[in-house]
Amino acid sequence: MADQTTTINDALGRPIRDLRISVTDRCNYRCTYCMPAEIFGERYHFLPREEVLTYEEITRLTRIFVSLGVNKVRLTGGEPLVRLDIAELVAQINTISGVDDLTLTTNGYLLADQAEALKRAGLARITVSIDSLDPEVYASMNGRGYDPSKTLAGIAAAEAAGLGPIKLNSVIERGTTDRTAVALAAHFKGTGHILRFIEFMDVGNLNAWDRSKVVPSAELIERINAETPIEPVDPNYPGEVAERWRYVDGTGELGFISSVTQPFCSGCTRARLSPEGKLFTCLFGSDGFDLKTPLRTGATDDEITALITGVWSKRTDRYSELRATEGATTRKIEMYQIGG
Ligand code: GTP
Ligand code: 5AD
Ligand code: SF4
Ligand code: SF4
Repeated sequence: MADQTTTINDALGRPIRDLRISVTDRCNYRCTYCMPAEIFGERYHFLPREEVLTYEEITRLTRIFVSLGVNKVRLTGGEPLVRLDIAELVAQINTISGVDDLTLTTNGYLLADQAEALKRAGLARITVSIDSLDPEVYASMNGRGYDPSKTLAGIAAAEAAGLGPIKLNSVIERGTTDRTAVALAAHFKGTGHILRFIEFMDVGNLNAWDRSKVVPSAELIERINAETPIEPVDPNYPGEVAERWRYVDGTGELGFISSVTQPFCSGCTRARLSPEGKLFTCLFGSDGFDLKTPLRTGATDDEITALITGVWSKRTDRYSELRATEGATTRKIEMYQIGG
């Protein structure tokens, strides 16, 4: 594969830098803000296996995206660890030169058994979702009644395997996880893991989002600061999703992802690939661009490159910035279909 030769910009001048690959639409959790159990019962129809891209197809597409400027790849789901032998995909992507950061977002339930294999396959680091440490709050958020012990064991295994720095994601919703957020921060203070609080977002159409359930990050920052003083830190790179903060006493870093109160679309360089091979140019997209059909009907790399370039160069998405004026009325892709 030739070294990267092109960088493509979208219609608002944003390059393509990140590829977020959803490897499955299935999940072992039923988080209330993503796949509410009352809608996604046991017999919900997920994608049939033949509709889902193979690891070889994903790797081929990733190689093409890298030739267009992508240098950061994240595997998501659904839950990526429920897909058979996901470490094999990590190993395949790891052979692509130009991928400088290869990571994965998981709920951690199956991580303890897989951390070592993921590291061996070439995963650089990992992000684990953990909304609360309170067993009741955790159980009600994941919709399955699970307590956080398996996820905590997964985090410990990831640390032992050297998958750091470990980032932890906690979705904050008023009345549920916001009540345990300060305790969650206290628990991970001093561990070296970076806990990030995410404002509850109106992704998809099924999670009964309304603005009153959003706790602005500014409010949470005040509450944590009142307990243990924190101060802002410069971003690691332009367009970083999480706003960085650290404890004044030097015991660690926190992050706040404020897509509702402080949208970050102007620096958004993220492309998303769905399990069935559709390219989405926004987390809040409604229609993806089908790449699987050309992939399976003999298109050359050059032809697929041209298709992706065509989509990206027309991209004007900035949903979070427009949310205030246009509201959340359009039909959107669900989070479990596209990952975070
Ligand atoms: P690193 O900086 O690479 O560690 O990753 P990140 O900060 O992008 O974190 P991660 O991929 O874990 O994203 C965390 C959460 O931020 C996701 O689960 C989403 O909820 C939210 N998020 C990430 N990217 C976007 C985006 O492009 N738009 C919006 N609105 N939210 C996003
Ligand atoms: N709002 C904010 N974050 C969400 N996630 C899933 N659904 C939502 C939502 N509605 C986050 C999860 C996980 C990642 C995959 O996306 O917590 O960290
Ligand atoms: Fe599964 Fe993640 Fe969605 Fe929760 S947020 S249901 S863990 S895909
Ligand atoms: Fe990017 Fe869309 Fe998120 Fe804005 S709302 S940051 S354009 S994914």
